[in-house]
Amino acid sequence: MKASLLLGSLALVLALSGCGQKAAAPAAGDKAPAAKAEAPAAGPRVIEITANDQMKFSVTTIEAKAGEDLKVILTNAGTLPKEAMGHNWVLLTADADAAAFVAAAMTAKDTDYVPASLAGQVIAKTALLGPRKSDEVSFKAPAPGTYVFLCSFPAHFMVGMKGTLIVK
Ligand code: CO
Repeated sequence: MKASLLLGSLALVLALSGCGQKAAAPAAGDKAPAAKAEAPAAGPRVIEITANDQMKFSVTTIEAKAGEDLKVILTNAGTLPKEAMGHNWVLLTADADAAAFVAAAMTAKDTDYVPASLAGQVIAKTALLGPRKSDEVSFKAPAPGTYVFLCSFPAHFMVGMKGTLIVK
């Protein structure tokens, strides 16, 4: 009597564990869609850059692969007013003349110092930021080459507010 009860219990345990295994299979199947959902969430590679009242970018060299999805987040960590110490991040095309670009930018206050006539030389740009402000821009890394990025606020490029994007 006792033995048959034990056997019965064993059978029940086996049946339950069998069910457990069956249940595990769909659970493993559920994992695949979850992993897929994570892929878009990975998104672009984020590059955080800080600008300050000393007219410097915290990042002056960016390396990337052609076609790579990038997101630049610029933060103005300074305290001086935007009118005196605004900062932006402007990535120019490989054939752009950076000195000529910033020369034209000086008289382009109405368009936040990004000259409309040279818009074709801009690959990506953030807004012009006042103190404690941030902006971001997403773009694909262009063809292999070397690209200048800069702050186009008057005179900032001249004192070194610039850097290089190297695409391989
Ligand atoms: Co600046």
